[in-house]
Amino acid sequence: MQTVQEAATLRAMIRSWREQRQSLAFVPTMGNLHEGHFSLLRRAHNCADRVVVSIFVNPTQFDSGEDLAHYPRTFEADQVGLSERDCDVLFFPAIETMYPYGLEQTVRVRVPGLGDTLEGVYRVGHFDGVSTVVSKLFNLVQPDYAVFGEKDWQQLQIVRHLVDDLSLPIEVVAGPTQREPDGLALSSRNRFLNAQQRAIAPAMYATLCWMRDNYTSGHTRTVVETAARARLQRVGFELDYIVIRRATDLTEPEKYIHTGLIGLAAGHLGSTRLIDNILFDV
Ligand code: PAF
Repeated sequence: MQTVQEAATLRAMIRSWREQRQSLAFVPTMGNLHEGHFSLLRRAHNCADRVVVSIFVNPTQFDSGEDLAHYPRTFEADQVGLSERDCDVLFFPAIETMYPYGLEQTVRVRVPGLGDTLEGVYRVGHFDGVSTVVSKLFNLVQPDYAVFGEKDWQQLQIVRHLVDDLSLPIEVVAGPTQREPDGLALSSRNRFLNAQQRAIAPAMYATLCWMRDNYTSGHTRTVVETAARARLQRVGFELDYIVIRRATDLTEPEKYIHTGLIGLAAGHLGSTRLIDNILFDV
């Protein structure tokens, strides 16, 4: 595996692969890699001859209340983890490569609608930062495939919309959420949970499963959402939302629709914010 910082070096490597007619899959990350990321890497390997993983802690997707400075940075361990798993290139760009005009003067990419609901309400500007950096990374890496985790379902739909709307020749591939044996979705944030919070955390996925089962067995959406909210608050979550939405555009479903739906939840345990989701018709 080669670690590359410069855009020109990355481009030269990609050009030589292209000359050999090799395909390329890309996994963008912010580092602090865990089994969830490594499963995306495996997915990437199944798609293409070559795999590029990027590590870039993107400042524009943190809102003012979130702590960019304290985002876990574990570069050495990430590098070892990737090199043990057949990654061809680790792209580790400097901030000047990603934002040559600075953070204030950068071109911004915005996906309206999809970016303004759910996470967009609680993390204002977050998805503009994600759409912007993902567009920049796509232009640098020019992959045939780009792999994103289903855990960040809203992000995945936004990237799909962006790729479609900007006519980018990239196939967006979804990687299923990886879970602990008790159901907790793998996340870099789990390390911030204390023992008591860690014991409560699996209730989010358990409640999403409960919500799916109750909705599909005939209860109305508002009844199920209200009861699910109460369940999570009872065990100690400070909840942002637990809702049933249409899976592709995240709008509220019409009554009596039972296909193409997803349950999504977000809430805090102490200062740690967790999100999760469950598709209903799988
Ligand atoms: O999901 C993430 O880790 C980030 O949002 C991404 C896609 C790498 C953009 O910074």
